[in-house]
Amino acid sequence: MSKGLLISIEGPDGAGKTSVLEALLPRLKEVYPGQVITTREPGGVAISEQIREVILDVDNTAMDAKTELLLYIAARRQHLVEKVLPELEKGNMVIMDRFIDSSVAYQGAGRGLEQTEIAWLNAYATDGHKPDVTLLFDVDSETGLKRIAANGEREVNRLDLEKLDMHQRVRKGYLDLAMVESERIKLIDASQPFDKVIEDAWQIIKSYL
Ligand code: TYD
Repeated sequence: MSKGLLISIEGPDGAGKTSVLEALLPRLKEVYPGQVITTREPGGVAISEQIREVILDVDNTAMDAKTELLLYIAARRQHLVEKVLPELEKGNMVIMDRFIDSSVAYQGAGRGLEQTEIAWLNAYATDGHKPDVTLLFDVDSETGLKRIAANGEREVNRLDLEKLDMHQRVRKGYLDLAMVESERIKLIDASQPFDKVIEDAWQIIKSYL
């Protein structure tokens, strides 16, 4: 078992998880005895960032759903072994912006790929490592999509271009998963005012410190 703390943050597009993380970072650094590392999927290390380019390229409209899944899984494996596990080994806190649950929600519930196969691939890529805690930022799909559209700075990627019903399936996929893994996955209502969302996230993380 690793010595550090592994936290993942998850949620449908437009839930605001990345902004919440940025807001919480100074507080976390203040209280955590080791270093606090933030990283993201797909990406986080050079090889996985290259895979990310391929996955999210808006011109790759021909990409098959299983190809998409396998690319996310490959990016996950490299990022985990090259960066995440070594940091945990040093006793650091690693906060991952997306991890295993994104495959379940997006490629499973969203694209309709077989969940047992996704679970197997996730376990294969991670050697069974799971986060100590996962914060799931939940927001209804209409609000999420409106937030993305309103955020002019954010680059639109291939998955953002999916229709409303795909986003709705992704959200439901997350909520179903949170019921099954309620010990690990903590649900946060991300439609609340930003300060309240930050406070809810802080209270949960605090209990793991
Ligand atoms: P990103 O720009 O990082 O979006 P966000 O800020 O919402 O995290 O793009 C990542 C996209 O990839 C996002 O739409 C979710 C999707 N994704 C999957 O479909 N499966 C996965 O396993 C992962 C990690 C991400």
